[in-house]
Amino acid sequence: MELKIAVLAGDGIGPEITKEAIKVCNAIGKKYNHKIIWTYASTGAIAIEKYNDPYPDDTHKICIEADSILFGAIGDPKYDNDPSAKIRPEQGLLKMRKKLGLFANIRPTFTFSSLIDKSPLKKERINGTDLVFVRELTSGIYFGDRGRKDNGDTAYDTCTYNREEIKRLAKKGFELSMKRRKKLCCVDKANVLESSRLWRETVQDIEKSYPEVDVSYEFVDAVAMRLVQWPNCYDVLITENLFGDILTDEASVISGSMGLMPSASIGTKNALYEPIHGSFPQAAGLGIANPLATILSVAMMFEMSFNMKQEGRVIRNAVNYSLEEGKVTQDLTQKGAKSLSTSEVGDYLVELIK
Ligand code: IPM
Ligand code: MN
Repeated sequence: MELKIAVLAGDGIGPEITKEAIKVCNAIGKKYNHKIIWTYASTGAIAIEKYNDPYPDDTHKICIEADSILFGAIGDPKYDNDPSAKIRPEQGLLKMRKKLGLFANIRPTFTFSSLIDKSPLKKERINGTDLVFVRELTSGIYFGDRGRKDNGDTAYDTCTYNREEIKRLAKKGFELSMKRRKKLCCVDKANVLESSRLWRETVQDIEKSYPEVDVSYEFVDAVAMRLVQWPNCYDVLITENLFGDILTDEASVISGSMGLMPSASIGTKNALYEPIHGSFPQAAGLGIANPLATILSVAMMFEMSFNMKQEGRVIRNAVNYSLEEGKVTQDLTQKGAKSLSTSEVGDYLVELIK
């Protein structure tokens, strides 16, 4: 089959990690006879430098013409430390999500038995953790009305949701939970926020169409606590944009390294796959970045965008094997063991796949 994939490597370690994911993807292409056509486009700080726009129109065109999109990371400390910057790399990410309509962000958290001791949490607490966040990605406080008043001395950001936005996101969550353990938690702050009350109302309505799914409604503060107490009690969690942003960073630590968790952002026409971690500028160019989250994102791409389960499984098995054998970057190396560089991990996986 012919697969056209757009690559938006972005900033920081983005180019290094996507390079390894492409290598692995090409190895799969060779093995299963898929012709993979790569098209490259700019986004983030690098696109600001070149085009004065963190998500230029040319990049958007490449994205909509592709069958799927592989994304690295964006962000640059130059902008983080300058609150007055008018154009910021992160705006590119938000513009891209909105223009491509990527409303559902699927972020799994699972543990690897070979890495269980790497987690900052006690083994008995996290054993068997296998949960997925379905985070709303194109609305809420990220896209609401914001500004300053009172001569700049007062600032506001507003969180707005309509029923339709909640419904389409919740449906994704219910559909996913039907393929999994049929357990769904709606995370909100309905004891305080009106937008959360609309979430609850809407989800309670949809719940009727999925009688097999065991649904719970929990407040975000309590979920933040339970995630580190008993993460293995959750299966699918649905939530709004900002809660999802915060909780998925928290959850990603459970597995032992943020460098391991992949994600998918799904819309009605397009889909994008990216690691959960950021651009990690301190590590850029040093060859120490862990490429596994990006490589696992490619596995998700095969499974979800191309419906190629076998290809996805082969990538996951190779990653598991490399973890068991300790063929990993320094963030995962056991005491005294030798670590591999970013590209050595990619090479090792390619050999395994062959
Ligand atoms: C993420 C990131 C982004 C977000 C930032 C970079 C805008 O943290 O993908 O989780 O907040 O959504
Ligand atoms: Mn985030």
